[in-house]
Amino acid sequence: DRFLASLAALDRAVPRPHRNQDRRDPVGDAVQAEFANVPDTDPALPGNVAWSRDILARAAASTAGVATADAAVVRSEEALDEILGAAAEAGRGWGALTGAQRAAVLRRAAVELERHRAELLEVMAAEAGKTLDQGDPEVSEAIDFANFYAGLAERLDDVDGAVRRPVPLTVVTPPWNFPVAIPAGSTLAALAAGSAVALKPASQAVRCGAVLAEALWAAGVPRDVLRLVRAGESRLGRRLVSDPRVGRVILTGAFETAELFRSFRTDLPLLAETSGKNAIVVTPSADMDLAVRDVVQSAFGHAGQKCSAASLVILVGSVARSRRFRDQLVDAVASLVVGPPTDPTAQMGPLIGPADGKLLRALTTLGPGESWVVRPRQLDDDGRLWSPGVKVGVADGSEYHLTEYFGPVLGIMTAGTLDEAISLQNRVPFGLTAGLHTRDASELATWLDRVEAGNLYVNRGTTGAIVRRQPFGGWKRSAVGAGTKAGGPNYLVGLTDWTPAPSTA
Ligand code: SER
Repeated sequence: DRFLASLAALDRAVPRPHRNQDRRDPVGDAVQAEFANVPDTDPALPGNVAWSRDILARAAASTAGVATADAAVVRSEEALDEILGAAAEAGRGWGALTGAQRAAVLRRAAVELERHRAELLEVMAAEAGKTLDQGDPEVSEAIDFANFYAGLAERLDDVDGAVRRPVPLTVVTPPWNFPVAIPAGSTLAALAAGSAVALKPASQAVRCGAVLAEALWAAGVPRDVLRLVRAGESRLGRRLVSDPRVGRVILTGAFETAELFRSFRTDLPLLAETSGKNAIVVTPSADMDLAVRDVVQSAFGHAGQKCSAASLVILVGSVARSRRFRDQLVDAVASLVVGPPTDPTAQMGPLIGPADGKLLRALTTLGPGESWVVRPRQLDDDGRLWSPGVKVGVADGSEYHLTEYFGPVLGIMTAGTLDEAISLQNRVPFGLTAGLHTRDASELATWLDRVEAGNLYVNRGTTGAIVRRQPFGGWKRSAVGAGTKAGGPNYLVGLTDWTPAPSTA
């Protein structure tokens, strides 16, 4: 307990870094002071070994969430119309509760999500190919979102002296790569802000969405306030997003999907986190062992299928000239154990579907001047399981430099100076995450001043933002219509409409 108390004290003492967090905000600060992240499961504890094996055995034969997911399919305009009407109506009642009343439900949701941890891990492995070490932090993140947004909801009515008006209905369209944490975060934020939610899970991860919804209903979120919706046809998906009763759409997905959504309805109130092409810069002052570890985790965690993944590492000056970093990286990557998520020894699992299109090209071909130092290999018949690849010679402005791939391939670039490395980082059209490994304060200052990304990570990997500590949001083509960061103090404000408080002269 003393150890935990000292950690909590340390946590409060840590100054908030500039630009990696939203602007200072007294409401958010009050919440931050009383909020604590929940721990992930420690896989080394004896009891957890048996617990994990049990989950993997169930995942191999899993049917969790099937019935709920099937029941959520909508097949006609009339059915969708009825759902949206009922949800918007229920949303008005939910929004009329006090923030504290909604917060109480969210705090119960945190408890239910913890109770559902094993089932969520099972369905993430079975449906989305997530190994337990990747899935477990997602459940923790979902719980953190529930507790953190509950704290914000309790104070929402005070923000800026303005009157917050909840929007009755929010549509949430999450991706498949974080099939629990992202739908949970978006849904819980909208609920905290006083809105009903129509949650449309990614088509590759509908059962994850179903188990999540079951946990939230068990916590007391009314069924009409949270509707799980799957569009039976694309026409209905379009209608779901563009219906005039929808007051917000929270999308996490490709930049092109955000553009498509906006083509459906020009005044669409859209908050979108979109694509990324992220790089970690390693300077000669860096701790090389730490840098190798963080690059490997950022590039190959969940087989590189995170929007936040690093698919480039940029070696500066003598790091590029000497072979030490490169050889160590190659050893580390070549030693990764690849296998299905139900294999407890697997460090890297499968792709969400067979590699095709630009990803297949990136795994099987090289651009001008590129060569493999670790060649990726297809390990199964259907093309989902690949060993990781590392290529050198990626040129400034090349296809590999500028394209997001969502797979287990890492490109090495070189730069003479830190300034050149930052230019390479900034040349991509996206700006989601960026990493720097350095032990030099002036290098850090230069980088922080110039690099263009929403989330900047120093001596850490680029994935797995922690609620409150690293509010998550993009810049450039990594965000559309956003502005405040998920898991940060101002996020709920962007999910409400507001009217200025009348002046009392
Ligand atoms: N929040 C996720 C991460 O930080 C990406 O969406 O990896």
